[in-house]
Amino acid sequence: MLITLEGIDGSGKSSLHEALSELLADLDPVFTREPGATWVGDQVRRAIKEQIDPVTEATLFVADHAAHLAKVVRPALAEGRLVISDRYSDSRYAYQSVTLQGIVPDPEGWMRAMHNGWTIVPDKTFLCVLPVDEALTRLKPDSEREHFEKHETLVKVQDNYLSYAKAEPARFVIVDAMLPQDTVAKFVADAIRVELGAGMKKRKGRRV
Ligand code: TMP
Repeated sequence: MLITLEGIDGSGKSSLHEALSELLADLDPVFTREPGATWVGDQVRRAIKEQIDPVTEATLFVADHAAHLAKVVRPALAEGRLVISDRYSDSRYAYQSVTLQGIVPDPEGWMRAMHNGWTIVPDKTFLCVLPVDEALTRLKPDSEREHFEKHETLVKVQDNYLSYAKAEPARFVIVDAMLPQDTVAKFVADAIRVELGAGMKKRKGRRV
């Protein structure tokens, strides 16, 4: 089963990822992330830092996703493992729709087309949502921020995420990131256990 955690910078999704490693330790999940599960991810981080060019950056994110699927996600799913990824394809749709605006004609359509046919759609996606002003207070000072971490960018990115959640209500679970961290972590951990139980029932049902 593939679970993804999404949300704008400062939404607490990385702390959630960490907390889940304790709360779900008995399930022995594979914890992974985008960008960064392979060396391609290191190049993505470099491209982000140097603000090299939006198309270069976008295609590197896709390359990182392909390497992540090949090296981490597919092998783990083939072994029947639970995979929990901090960011995944929805990050590309939500962020690159903003960074590629005015550069390619239909940024989101282009991004989705690049994934179609070979990506693996997550079973559940937990979307951490909070007011952008609050997210910004949780980030590093202005001078040290990545170029995505600007108010107007994050507002658009979060709106994109919310529109995906509306379009795919069975996959997305919206998480109130203003709640205390341990409450959020417990809620998500419990929801993942329920999802795993439902998945097992479905598989058993198919066999009969
Ligand atoms: P991180 O802070 O969660 O490690 O992610 C690094 C930044 O990269 C973050 O600002 C979101 C951005 N990002 C994209 O723009 N597109 C993507 O596909 C991914 C995975 C991240």
